[in-house]
Amino acid sequence: MAEKKPTGEMDDIENDLANLARLAAAESNEDTRLLLARLVRKYRQQRPELAARLDQSLKASQTRSAGNSVLRRGAPVVEPNEAPLPVDGDSRLALIRVFDDREGLAPPILPGSVHDAIGAIIRERQERERLAARGISPTRSAILVGPPGVGKTLSARWIASALGKPLWVLDLTAVMSSLLGKTGNNLRAALDHAKKHAAVLLLDEIDAIAKRRSDESDIGELKRLVTVMLQEVDQWPDSGLLLAATNHPELVDPALWRRFDLVLKFDAPDAAAISVAINRFLGDDRKIFESWINVLAAGLQGQSLSDVERSINALRRGHALQTAPIEKLISSAIGQRQEALSKIERLNLAIELAKTGQHTHMQISQMTGVARDTIRKHAGPSPRKGRGLK
Ligand SMILES: Nc1ncnc2c1ncn2[C@@H]1O[C@H](COP(=O)(O)OP(=O)(O)OP(=O)(O)O)[C@@H](O)[C@H]1O
Ligand SMILES: [Mg+2]
Repeated sequence: MAEKKPTGEMDDIENDLANLARLAAAESNEDTRLLLARLVRKYRQQRPELAARLDQSLKASQTRSAGNSVLRRGAPVVEPNEAPLPVDGDSRLALIRVFDDREGLAPPILPGSVHDAIGAIIRERQERERLAARGISPTRSAILVGPPGVGKTLSARWIASALGKPLWVLDLTAVMSSLLGKTGNNLRAALDHAKKHAAVLLLDEIDAIAKRRSDESDIGELKRLVTVMLQEVDQWPDSGLLLAATNHPELVDPALWRRFDLVLKFDAPDAAAISVAINRFLGDDRKIFESWINVLAAGLQGQSLSDVERSINALRRGHALQTAPIEKLISSAIGQRQEALSKIERLNLAIELAKTGQHTHMQISQMTGVARDTIRKHAGPSPRKGRGLK
C-alpha cells in the first residue's frame, strides 16, 4: 500500500481533528461516534496507535450512548433506566427527559379528590392481577389539567416513583422543533420506544401541537401529528402508563381529549394547601419563622405552590446570609405579591401582621393598603411606635 506524503497526511489528520472538534463542541454525540468509527477504520493501517486510542474513546462513548439504536425493530426489551433514549435526527435534541425519583419523593400537596384519583391509579397498578382476574384493565392514560406551577409535573413524577419507575417526559417542544415532515416520525419513534419499555410517559405541554395551528403552512403536518397521537392514546398498552399535561385544555383537540381514560383537574391551591406548603418549604428553618407563618400564609394567598416555594426559598437565603432583619425579609416576600390579593385577603394579612406585634398600624397600613381605622377595628390598638421595622 502506497504511503501518503507526511505533509498530506498531516493535513488529513488536521482536517479530521477539526471535524471531530466541531461535532464534539456541538455535542452531536451520534455524529461524533460515527466520525470516530470512520477514523478508526481509516487510520487502522497507517496509524495503528492512533486508531487504537480512537477506538477506545468510541467504545467508552458507546457504553453511555444516548443514540437511537434501540429503536430498530427487534431490539431487546430493556429496563427503562437502562434504555438509551431517542434523539431528534436533525437537531440531536433529546426527545425524552428522565426524572428518576425512585429513591424517594415527598408527595405533592393536593386537594383530596386529586390525591384520591392519583392513589387509585397507583393501586390499580399494584393490584393488576385482581383486576385482570375479572377481565378489567387498569387506567392506561390520564390528562392532567391546571394552571402553571400547581404540581402537574410533580404529580407525574410521584406516580412514576410510586410505581417504582423513572418518569419519562416527552418534550413536545423538541418534537415540534424538528424539520417539518419529520415531526410525526419523531413522535412515533419516541412513543414506540416508551411503549416497548412499559414506561410511565408524560407528554408535557400537549397543547404545543395545537398552538402551532395558527401557522397555515403547518396544517397538514399538524393533522398528521394529531392522528398519530389519537392512535397512540387508543393503543397504549396497559403495561405502560401514558400521562399528558396542559395549561390550555381549550387548545387540545376534543377528539384527543376524549381518548384519555381519566381527566385530573388541578386547581390553584386553597388557603390550607398554601399553609401546608409554607411549612414544608421552610424545612429546617420552620422554628425560626414560626411566628410569621400565618403572615406568610395570608400574604401568599392566590399564588401557585411553585411561586410559594420560590418566595420561601428567597426568604431562607436572605435569613441565612443576614441580608436584612427578618421583618424586612418577610415584608419583601409578601410585598411583591400584594397586588394579587383581594380586599378581604389584604385585610386578613393586615390582621395577621398586627397579631405579631412587630409593626405599628401605620406600617401595616403602608404595607397592605388597609386603612389604620379598619386595622384598629379588627386588631385592637396599635403597639407603641418604634418596634419592628426600621
Ligand atoms: N402540589 C404541589 N405540592 C408540592 N410542591 C409543589 C406543588 N405544586 C408545585 N410545587 C413545587 O413547584 C415546582 C413546580 O411544580 P410543577 O412543575 O409540578 O408545576 P406544573 O403544574 O407542572 O406547572 P407547569 O404547567 O408550568 O408545567 C415543583 O417541583 C414543586 O417544588
Ligand atoms: Mg409541568
